[in-house]
Amino acid sequence: MTIGNAYKVKWGILSTGWIAHQFATDLAHASNGLAYAVGSRSQESADEFARKHGIPVAHATYEDLVNDPEVDAVYIGTPHPFHKDNALLALRAGKAVLCEKPFTVNSGELEEIVAYAREHKLFLMEAMWSRYLPANVKVREWIAAQRIGDVRLVKADLGFRADWNPEGRLLNPALGGGALLDVGIYPVSFASMIFGPHPESVASTVHMGETGVDEHFSLLLSYGGGKSASLNGGVRLNMMQEAYVFGTEGHIVVKGSFVNPRSAELYAGGELVETFEDDRTSTGYAFEAEEVGRCLQAGLTESPALTLDESLAVLKLLDQVRAEWGLVYPGE
Ligand SMILES: NC(=O)c1ccc[n+]([C@@H]2O[C@H](COP(=O)([O-])OP(=O)(O)OC[C@H]3O[C@@H](n4cnc5c(N)ncnc54)[C@H](OP(=O)(O)O)[C@@H]3O)[C@@H](O)[C@H]2O)c1
Repeated sequence: MTIGNAYKVKWGILSTGWIAHQFATDLAHASNGLAYAVGSRSQESADEFARKHGIPVAHATYEDLVNDPEVDAVYIGTPHPFHKDNALLALRAGKAVLCEKPFTVNSGELEEIVAYAREHKLFLMEAMWSRYLPANVKVREWIAAQRIGDVRLVKADLGFRADWNPEGRLLNPALGGGALLDVGIYPVSFASMIFGPHPESVASTVHMGETGVDEHFSLLLSYGGGKSASLNGGVRLNMMQEAYVFGTEGHIVVKGSFVNPRSAELYAGGELVETFEDDRTSTGYAFEAEEVGRCLQAGLTESPALTLDESLAVLKLLDQVRAEWGLVYPGE
């Protein structure tokens, strides 16, 4: 992993879809990693992806990718129903794994992966990239420094109007479609970052669409002690994507989109007192990749900023909400 004098994780990218392209592009901005190999279900797609991103090695199968002895860490960018098998494939080959959100379709699947990773002391992390973005790191710092007093309320929404495509991954139950798993994980994870992953109670409403998956939803999480989170998500509804964190002495606005923020504002008693600007040139996926590199270099098997127990608890929460809605995916 040391190339020249620099520590660099040699990444293997598993799949060649939309998010895999974003991740590969952003790896060029990562100080401690490089895109070394890609694996696809077809040689043609792997070759095209490798050409586009200047990746030296292109594998025609996921198996060949994870068994490439030069690969240190595998990034998984397949649709959610395949995450469990893909992650286990990579872990069984002894690789560190960064797996797209949602980690898996349900918490039972994640428990299997986590158990394997822990038993074999292998690194595993959910690709909840927003957690590692500088503006959200600043939000955590402001809260820890009591800059808004005691936090009472989090508001976060994420929604966009996807085209009507019943076969595509966003609306197709066979590909884990639906708003809660695709976008809902973001506001739930954001609230978890602030209040922890164990609300005392959860209330929800949902609009189930024609394909049998949730097109948009609202969640109200209550944590006791006057703390609550109001969260919305949708894949057929455009929504504002700013997040708000209200405390007894002030509030924070995560500007633009809390999933991919470029700035955050701190207010005290209604007055703007500090603005944080992130002038990065990357889209933002380099930060999660760098976190993996930092953890591997430090000999950690989990990221302290998002532990596996937290990812598991968040997924259990989503299981609970889906159970209330009666939303069961094929194979569950
Ligand atoms: N972090 C983010 O900002 C973000 C954004 C979008 C999506 N995501 C997550 O990333 C995952 C993939 O989303 P995406 O939008 O990139 O999907 P996508 O464009 O449809 O790509 C998925 C890729 O997975 C592979 N794949 C393996 N089995 C497949 C199957 N049966 N059907 C379709 N594809 C299959 C394919 O690659 P090969 O043909 O090369 O095998 C395909 O190109 C999802 O879990 C999603 O939640 C994250």
